[in-house]
Amino acid sequence: MIIVAGGIKGGSGKTTVATHLAVMRALQGRDVLLIDADDQETATDFTALRNERLPEGAGYTSIKLTGASVRTETLRLAKKYDDIVIDTGGRDTTSQRATLTVADKLIVPFVPRSFDVWTLEKVANLVEEMRAANPRLKAYVFLNRADPQGRDNDEAAELLREAGGLEYLDTPIGTRKAFGNAASQGLAVTELKQQDPKATQEINALFRYLFDIQ
Ligand SMILES: Nc1ncnc2c1ncn2[C@@H]1O[C@H](COP(=O)(O)OP(=O)(O)O)[C@@H](O)[C@H]1O
Ligand SMILES: [Mg+2]
Repeated sequence: MIIVAGGIKGGSGKTTVATHLAVMRALQGRDVLLIDADDQETATDFTALRNERLPEGAGYTSIKLTGASVRTETLRLAKKYDDIVIDTGGRDTTSQRATLTVADKLIVPFVPRSFDVWTLEKVANLVEEMRAANPRLKAYVFLNRADPQGRDNDEAAELLREAGGLEYLDTPIGTRKAFGNAASQGLAVTELKQQDPKATQEINALFRYLFDIQ
């Protein structure tokens, strides 16, 4: 399975979710490759920290790729790994488009507060264009950094539900300090000594849905 965390907004949680999927999938005994296709290299930094902090290392392999070569390299690497997770930058780049020509699934987190239809439409258009090159591309949208409650979540969820060509995942992730705490230690929230049960439950729900685990 090749999963891309993408979209055209920074700070929506792409790297957070991509690194969690890589960690959690690797913990299931799968041979996982995390491809950092973002020039900001946040996923690479996270993995470096993880390799430093954990005696057994990160648990997955991590590489950096950019530009059109992402396509050919990913295709070659797909034969060598069980699963590939790709983290992209918050823009519509050649790299992101290259990943979408070979991906099985695109996942796009949206933050309800900074939500705007303009971004959603752009993502829907991008997906539609990429389906010409990759007809089996599935695209999922979900809320990340959601408010504890309230109208913003509901309104944003409603817009995501209505977006054409994108499947809304009813697995929202709230704004939870655990994500920042975990990132600063090179960990997933599911690995924290002092866990936030809600953060763990929410990321687990998304993980299980995407990898089709009952
Ligand atoms: N659900 C969440 N709750 C709290 N903080 C979050 C959550 N998701 C992401 N963050 C934080 O928001 C910031 C941006 O997230 P990041 O995953 O780097 O976004 P992106 O890769 O889309 O730019 C990071 O500091 C991250 O720790
Ligand atoms: Mg990022």
